[in-house]
Amino acid sequence: MKIANIEIPHFPLLLAPMEDITDRSFRQMCKDFGADVLYTEFVASEALIRNIDKSLKKLKIDVSERPTGIQIYGHRIDAMVEAAKIAEEAKPDLIDINYGCPVKKIANRGAGSGMLKDIPKLMEMTRQIVNAVKVPVTVKTRLGWDSESLIIDKIAEELQDTGIQALTIHGRTRSQMYKGKSDWSLIKKVKDNPRIKIPIIGNGDITSGEEAQKAIDDFGVDGIMIGRATIGKPWIFKEVKHFLETGKVLAPPSIEEKVEIARHHFFKSIEIKGERTGFFEMRRHFAIYFKGLKDFKQLRLRLLTSMDVTEINEILDTIKERYKNN
Ligand SMILES: Cc1cc2nc3c(=O)[nH]c(=O)nc-3n(C[C@H](O)[C@H](O)[C@H](O)COP(=O)(O)O)c2cc1C
Repeated sequence: MKIANIEIPHFPLLLAPMEDITDRSFRQMCKDFGADVLYTEFVASEALIRNIDKSLKKLKIDVSERPTGIQIYGHRIDAMVEAAKIAEEAKPDLIDINYGCPVKKIANRGAGSGMLKDIPKLMEMTRQIVNAVKVPVTVKTRLGWDSESLIIDKIAEELQDTGIQALTIHGRTRSQMYKGKSDWSLIKKVKDNPRIKIPIIGNGDITSGEEAQKAIDDFGVDGIMIGRATIGKPWIFKEVKHFLETGKVLAPPSIEEKVEIARHHFFKSIEIKGERTGFFEMRRHFAIYFKGLKDFKQLRLRLLTSMDVTEINEILDTIKERYKNN
């Protein structure tokens, strides 16, 4: 399978762009466990064109996490075109346009999923971005704004004609936010359109190899993008890949392995972001790495409040020792 000019010799698994999650350290973790294409957190076009340092930092991609796409969002065509050119200078493998973000302050301003309310503008924005940069452009969106406007199957072909090189569809509407179950039947409808030639990537609620296999069998997608199920569990890519290749479920990592994965991630995080931010950004992951351990409350609290590297190391060692026969 080819996504733009990225050749993937097996069924492609993609890491979903996620704000405050898919930073460089996490992308490297997911890449190590077999993610085929990775995405940055979304980056606001308005911040890029104003040279906001925090946003510019999000453009940085290390060679160890390629292929990575930079995702941008915004509601003004000029700003998005300019932002795409700025993003291109960071030499991403792809530029992805976000037409799916449901967050009120973004969507109500007409950006993210808000673009689904103005399809002519969405097409024009996409066309202008594709024409403005040499790097391949992809789009990530939802089924439509709400259940009254399920439009993705009607707009996919026109989107393809703008020159984008892949389309990721999250099987929910904007109104659903993250609620309910994602519906892949419209994704299949897009895929079933014989005029659609670009890869169609399915996204929404995949948490295991079995679910991925079922999505491939039932909906015929060309790739699967995984989001929430990767948080605190970057090895999910290895598990899914193993199932797709062998039809067998891979045993999850032991607690000793999980501790070492979490420790590795933690050190990457503070190396890249510096101690203060690195600590804060790891908390979300730590909480999930060790979810479900019995009588974990005290250790969890320490893990999620400590600002001391030695202490974090000690807590991790304690977890390893205490739960080794779990
Ligand atoms: C914390 C969080 C942050 C997200 N940030 C982004 C983002 O920056 N860009 C984007 O396109 N989608 C974003 N999403 C949506 C995911 O990329 C994905 O489409 C959604 O979670 C559904 O996939 P899943 O069921 O595998 O999680 C975010 C989701 C979560 C949970």
